[in-house]
Amino acid sequence: MSRLQIAAGNWKMNKNLEEGVALATALVEANPSSDQLVILATPFIHLQAVGAVIKDVPHFKLAAQNCHQAEKGAYTGEISVEMLKSIGVEYVIIGHSERREYFKEDNALLAQKIDAVLAGGLIPIFCCGESLTIREAGTHVDFVANQLKESIFHLSDADFSKLVIAYEPIWAIGTGVTASPAQAQDMQAALRQLIAKQYSQEIADGTSILYGGSVKPANCNDLFSQADVDGGLVGGASLKAEDFTTIIKAL
Ligand code: 13P
Repeated sequence: MSRLQIAAGNWKMNKNLEEGVALATALVEANPSSDQLVILATPFIHLQAVGAVIKDVPHFKLAAQNCHQAEKGAYTGEISVEMLKSIGVEYVIIGHSERREYFKEDNALLAQKIDAVLAGGLIPIFCCGESLTIREAGTHVDFVANQLKESIFHLSDADFSKLVIAYEPIWAIGTGVTASPAQAQDMQAALRQLIAKQYSQEIADGTSILYGGSVKPANCNDLFSQADVDGGLVGGASLKAEDFTTIIKAL
């Protein structure tokens, strides 16, 4: 399959600047060449410095963890797509479950953010995923399908072809409980089918769908060997250079 395999590290709200630069430096030194893509989603204040560390390593890219949906204006404390672009950011995580839960970002707002990111020429990494209650009720595929329908299925073929999707079941995030390779595969195959129906088989086959939720060195090989798992969006294990390097090498 020709679609891109990606290891994306979501640092969340961790590490001061010095620690972040040290982590990026260690990752670059340990992964000098790769056919795959490594994306570092650092806190806003680290972006420029980490960008300088990875600037000569073409398979390392910079991501923000969020952005505002407006182009500019009186939105105290917020960061626009244009600002991110101006410092070399290429990807933006949109719709992480922590943003949905703690900052009340709903599907309609996320659709606006997706539009803003694409309009600015950056690439969204769109996160979706269900809670444990929904998983136990057995309605997880419908729930995640609806997240896609309400936030990204309005896009044109050309725009949709640019995005990366990350399936992150909430019950697996930061809990140490990982979805089994079969659970990840089942959901991600279902999402790919949905994309094929909405767009085309070609677009579905070209869309990278990452798995996120307690990805670690011990389980990354089994997860990444699934046909519809095109890499990982990694939280905790991306904060340790050695662990994240093992995950990158498992792609
Ligand atoms: P953990 O890998 O710490 O479970 O976090 C996953 C995640 O939320 C990545 O965005």
